[in-house]
Amino acid sequence: MSGTETPTDFTPAPRWGQHTSFHDPRLLACFRARPDDVLITTAPKAGTTWMQQILHQLRSGGDDSFHSIYEVVPWLERPRRDKDWRALLAEYDAMSDPRIFKTHCTYTQTPAAGQVHIVLTSRDPRDCCVSFYHHLMGMTPRALARSGISRPASFDDYFERWLEGGVWFRNVQSWWPHVHDANVLWLRYEDLKADLPTALTRIGAFLGWPLSQARRERVLEYCSFAWMKAHAERFTRFPDEEGLLFQRGAFIRRGAVGDYGELLSAQQEARILEKARAKLAPDCLEFLGL
Ligand code: A3P
Repeated sequence: MSGTETPTDFTPAPRWGQHTSFHDPRLLACFRARPDDVLITTAPKAGTTWMQQILHQLRSGGDDSFHSIYEVVPWLERPRRDKDWRALLAEYDAMSDPRIFKTHCTYTQTPAAGQVHIVLTSRDPRDCCVSFYHHLMGMTPRALARSGISRPASFDDYFERWLEGGVWFRNVQSWWPHVHDANVLWLRYEDLKADLPTALTRIGAFLGWPLSQARRERVLEYCSFAWMKAHAERFTRFPDEEGLLFQRGAFIRRGAVGDYGELLSAQQEARILEKARAKLAPDCLEFLGL
């Protein structure tokens, strides 16, 4: 779709994906991208919320006044309960530049993927797998019911569904051919953990968002794990839903690298790596350290 009018209704082309409680293809098909837009794209649990916070803090020079991160960095394709998709698109149109959105879309599903700024964060699939298990176990009963998701009966049961569903693999595979595109900055969660100040400098240079030293210190503080954990409610509520989506401590949880061994058996770990090796190019595996 292009132009400035949102059609009253239509069936989006298959490239925009299936409609779910987290993915409305109409929002993608009719999104009116602007050159200054920044899209944060990730496979779930790769540090999406952290990147929402990092980019919002870089853009604002340090802001601790927001109630929900989704008010300042919306989730592009997520339908809202309090407004229909056309009203939501109008709200996106009214946002001032530079706009930042979160998305879990593949390359094909991402509107204007070749024109907007893309900040992509990837994370070791073994850590993503375990983190998503805790995500499901930590959701409140109300949030689970609202999303139509059921809590896993066991880790093993969950693991089979995670591996079979293949979201992590599909996401990384779809973006890898664009890793060197001029409008794409691909960051690894592990590097952010090891050296956030250097990552801030890289992101700031990529987006052309300079920071004074005083502001930089504030931004680093607000993006720290400790600050985000202490203010977890701002990262675990949607603007259109009452209450928190997660039990205390369950979402900004541990933020560690490589502690998947607590839950993943050696055989499960091997199956993740086997699937990654079957799906991803050798240079991608090398880049990800797999
Ligand atoms: P864990 O469950 O391993 O702790 P997403 O936002 O994509 O769902 O990712 C959530 C993961 O990012 C969680 O991982 C969470 O703890 C981690 N995370 C959130 N904020 C972070 C921060 N400031 N530093 C490091 N990790 C963070």
